[in-house]
Parts: sequence; structure tokens; C-alpha cells
Amino acid sequence: MKIQGLLAAALLVVSGAGGAGAQEQAGAAGSAEEGAKVFNRCKACHTVEAGKHRVGPSLHGVMGRKAGAAQGFNYSDAMKKSDVTWSPETLSKYLEDPKAFIPGNKMIFAGLKKEDERRDVIAYLEKEGGAAAAGQKAEVPKSSK
Ligand code: HEC
Repeated sequence: MKIQGLLAAALLVVSGAGGAGAQEQAGAAGSAEEGAKVFNRCKACHTVEAGKHRVGPSLHGVMGRKAGAAQGFNYSDAMKKSDVTWSPETLSKYLEDPKAFIPGNKMIFAGLKKEDERRDVIAYLEKEGGAAAAGQKAEVPKSSK
């Protein structure tokens, strides 16, 4: 009995400390792997392949790019005139509540209310989107088409 009690107490301490540490780590960077799952909700309208637009523009290289700047996509005026540059910060605000951040934009999406989901999908976009680093996007060479 006594030993069981001690074990339970030890387990509590271990899981408590581990949990907080793990959460902090995820918080710092975001997980591109988890973000790939979140991105399933964007796939109806977006790809991360360069130049491949659907209902929404390709998100290839979106990090560090001006809003409304993907070639060959017909953006709303609101998006084109927003004067936003996509960074982890602006993306997080936009994805939390697209309509509030850029009123009049035509992305029909309720928003990702959970901060960790936003962080993860942003990490995914950084990784898959072809940008070298936030704010320092290398120009993607245009194909001959
Ligand atoms: C129902 C379709 C739809 C869904 C779902 C959707 N989007 Fe969009 N998204 C759009 C459209 C349409 C636009 C262009 C808006 C405009 O021009 O006003 C857009 C624009 C964007 C932009 C700005 C791109 C640029 O080139 O400036 C980002 C970033 C973005 N979406 C990310 C996401 C992410 C991440 C998700 C999933 C969490 C998502 N979207 C879900 C349709 C969608």
C-alpha cells in the first residue's frame, strides 16, 4: 500500500514536469508534421505546389511574400490592397480569423481557433512552401510556361 502511494506520487511528478516541458518545446517552433494534418483542412482550396492554384492560391513560398502576390491567381481587391507581408505573426492572425484580419477577403474559412494548430500549420508552410526563412524568401525561378 505504502509503496503504491509512493509510486503514484512519483508518477504525478514525472508526468507533470514532462508535460510542461513538452508543451513549451512545441510552442517554440511548431511541428510541421502536425501541421501537415492541419493542412488537410486547407487542401480543398490550397496546394503547396508552385503555381498550382485551386479555389485559393498556391501557398508555395507564401512565407515572406506580400499578400495577394502569387502569379496567376485572381485575388480579391481586399487581399491585394491589404499591404500585409506573410510572416509567422501575420499568418497566425489571419488564420485565427481571416475576415477580421483582412475584411472583405474571399477566403471562406472560419479560422483556426487553437494556437497550436496555427503554429503547426505555419511550420508546415515554412517547410513545404519553399521559403528559406521567414522574411527572407528566395525568389522561386519561374517555369518557362
Ligand atoms: C474554402 C476554400 C479555402 C479554405 C478551406 C482555405 N482557404 Fe486560404 N484562401 C482561399 C482563397 C479564395 C484565398 C484568396 C483570398 C482573397 O483573394 O481574398 C485564400 C488565401 C489564403 C492566404 C493568402 C495567400 C496569398 O497569396 O496572399 C493564405 C496564407 C491562406 N489562404 C492560408 C490558408 C490555410 C493555412 C488554410 C487552412 C488552415 C486555408 N487557407 C483554408 C480559400 C481557402
